[in-house]
Parts: sequence; C-alpha cells; structure tokens
Amino acid sequence: MGIPLHPILRASLWVAAAPLAFYVALIGLGVVPFFQRHFLYAHTINSLWWSDINAPEGWGFAKNQVTPFQLQTPDGETIYAWHIMPLPLYLQHEAAVATQKIGLCDNFTQTESFRLLANDPEARLIISFHGNAGHIAQNERPNSYHALTDTSSYHVLAVDYRGFGHSTGMPNETGLILDAATVVDWAINVAKIPPSRIVLLGHSLGTAVASGVAERYALQGVEFAGIVLVAAFSDLATMLSGYRFGGYVPALGPFAMWPAFQRLLERYIVDKWHSANRLANIVRHTRGRLRISLVHAYNDNDIPWTEDNKLFHAAANETIGILDDDEFNAWKESNTVRTSEKSFVTTWTTGENIVIRQELFPWGGHNEILSFAPVSLAIIRSFDLEGTAYD
Ligand SMILES: *[C@@H]1O[C@H](CO)[C@@H](O)[C@H](O)[C@H]1NC(C)=O
Ligand SMILES: *[C@@H]1O[C@H](CO)[C@@H](O)[C@H](O)[C@H]1NC(C)=O
Ligand SMILES: *[C@@H]1O[C@H](CO)[C@@H](O)[C@H](O)[C@H]1NC(C)=O
Repeated sequence: MGIPLHPILRASLWVAAAPLAFYVALIGLGVVPFFQRHFLYAHTINSLWWSDINAPEGWGFAKNQVTPFQLQTPDGETIYAWHIMPLPLYLQHEAAVATQKIGLCDNFTQTESFRLLANDPEARLIISFHGNAGHIAQNERPNSYHALTDTSSYHVLAVDYRGFGHSTGMPNETGLILDAATVVDWAINVAKIPPSRIVLLGHSLGTAVASGVAERYALQGVEFAGIVLVAAFSDLATMLSGYRFGGYVPALGPFAMWPAFQRLLERYIVDKWHSANRLANIVRHTRGRLRISLVHAYNDNDIPWTEDNKLFHAAANETIGILDDDEFNAWKESNTVRTSEKSFVTTWTTGENIVIRQELFPWGGHNEILSFAPVSLAIIRSFDLEGTAYD
C-alpha cells in the first residue's frame, strides 16, 4: 500500500498525469512512420460521416457548377477531385450544364463542363492544394473556391490527396507530389490548358505539395503562370518546432527550444518537405518567366508568418548572389513597403522576368486568409492582369 493521499489530491494527480502520459505516448508513437504520418497528415479526421462531398450544392455552389470526378495515379491510386466552373461562364451555359447528371461523374471528359474548360483557348485554371486534415470541402476550403470563381473567369481544380476524403491509399511525401503531378498532367494533357495559363495555389501543407510539384516540372523546363503559397512553411521539422495545435497548444512543448532535440526531429521526421530548397531550385531552373507569391496572416497562430522570410530568402538568394544576413536584410528592406506594424509587401523583380513577392496581411489567421483579397490579387497578378481590363 502506498502513502495514503487525500482523495482530492489523488484525483488531481491523475488529472495532471494523464495528459502527460498521453503526450509522452504520442511522442513515442510519433517515431513510428505509420503513426507519425497519421498525426501529421491527419487525413482520417474529416466530416465524411455526415456530409456528402458528391453534393456540392450543400456548400452553396450552383447545380452542377462543381463536377466531382476521379483520376488514376501512375502507381494505382484513385484520387478524388472537384472541377469548379466560374459562375459567369456557368450563367452563359446554365441550361446545358444544370441538366447534366448530378453526383460523382464517371467520365468527366464527356460532360458539358469539361467541354467548356477544354475547348476555350482563353481558359485560365487554378489548381488548389489543400492543407492537412479534412477533405476537399472541409472548413474554409469551399469559401476559397467561391472567392475564386463567383465573378471571375477562372476555373478551379481541387484535389483530395491519397488517403484523404474518398481518395485511396496512405499519404507520404512522394505520394502527395505524385497525386499533384497526376492532376497537373491531366490539366495539361487532357484538358489541354497550357502551363502558362495555370496557377498552382497551396495552403499550409498544400504549399509544400505545390512547391514539390512545381519543382518537378521546373526540372523538365515547364513553367506555370504562378505559384501562390498561403500560410507556408520552410520545411516540416523547423515548422513543427514552432507548431501549435489549434493555434494554442505547442506540439513539442518545452522540447522545441532544445537544439539537440531539433536535430533529432530533423532525423526522425520521415517526410521532410524542404520547400525552401525547392523554391531555390525552381528559381535556379527558370529560363522564361516565374511568379512566386507568398501570402501569410500576421495573426496566424498555427504557422508563424516568419516562415515566409525563410522561403523568400531561399528564393531571392538564387537571384542576388550571396549576402550575409545583415546585407540581405538591408537589401530586402529596400524592396519592402511597410503598410502598418502588421503588414508589408516585399517585391523583388529580376531582369530575368522573375517576380518573388512576400505579403504579410494583418488579419485572416491560418485558415480564413485563404479566401481573403491578397490571395485573389496574387492570382490575378500571376496571370499578368495587373493594370489590364478584367476579362
Ligand atoms: C471517357 O470518354 C472519352 C471520350 O468519349 C473516351 O475516350 C474515354 O475512353 C472514356 N473513359 C472511360 C474511362 O470510359
Ligand atoms: C510512399 O508511398 C508509396 C506508395 O503510396 C510507396 O511506394 C513508397 O515506398 C512510400 N515511401 C516511403 C518513404 O514510405
Ligand atoms: C544562399 O545560397 C548559398 C549558395 O548556394 C547557400 O550556401 C546559402 O545557404 C543560401 N542561403 C539561404 C538563406 O538560402
């Protein structure tokens, strides 16, 4: 028998110890790649039990404005996608589009919606890569599709990576980049949209996917209209050391401050997602034109906006030569317009038709920012519509 404790004291010890034990167990399990990926991708956490993503009207889209369809990856996974038509185009063809069969489409290429995308030589397309957890229509994601298509001429393609939503398989870095490449290949080769009319848009984890797929194409000499990264991070291990669950609970608690722990973390993280290196590599391989836009909210409690400084530095470094940190910061400041204590825009335009832009916006948190004006503006700028009549 142990020392008799007052029942209230005993109860409070349990209350204190249980979360700690749980936390230690989580960290321990996290060393096992299978569990680590379940924590990081959180792909099984979604609302599919009570919401039907094959019925997009539930998220306020016009009847058949969205076509849910599936794509096959080269390694045999089936991934789930949405095509979202711009409403002005929808209105012109409402009778033909609205009378199509609704629900999951078994052959998208035979639909009026596909015809309107593929037969228009002026069509512009945004391919949207979402963050971790949830499915294609979870949380802020539908608002972002609305913001991008309600009054524009832009089509949107969104995708659930392997293991997310109704897509088969289990996520990992190579797999997610392959899924993204499957969608991009489909857009270029089946829908016949030239890469110069495609913007890659990533949010949170999706910024790492967008950087990964853009690098893959840059190595083949393929250049997109733009790469827009919202609430991005420079690499996964660095990001995790400052990550807060739900914006408040530090994932790695006090350990994060300990340099040896950070080195261990870099070793044990199975999927590295080195986006900073990838952006640098994209810049290095650009021969024609490149637009990289980083947009982050000052009040993002999940991923600190300072991660964008690292991405900007890595990308700009390739075009300005090596400067030490003080020289770099002075150079950056000379290309920065500060609009308030919580906002600035840095624009770096090279002689080689490369524009790297970092925008800090005061509001929007980690998620809402995705459907805020700076993101739409970054997309319009990528398509080079600045100062031209909106078509
Ligand atoms: C879908 O339709 C296209 C065009 O009619 C056809 O070429 C293709 O084989 C069809 N795909 C499937 C999987 O049925
Ligand atoms: C990633 O997943 C693919 C299949 O989805 C698998 O072939 C590959 O080995 C995995 N890579 C790692 C590093 O686990
Ligand atoms: C800048 O480029 C040099 C040479 O490639 C490299 O050693 C350095 O780490 C880069 N700095 C950043 C911040 O990416």
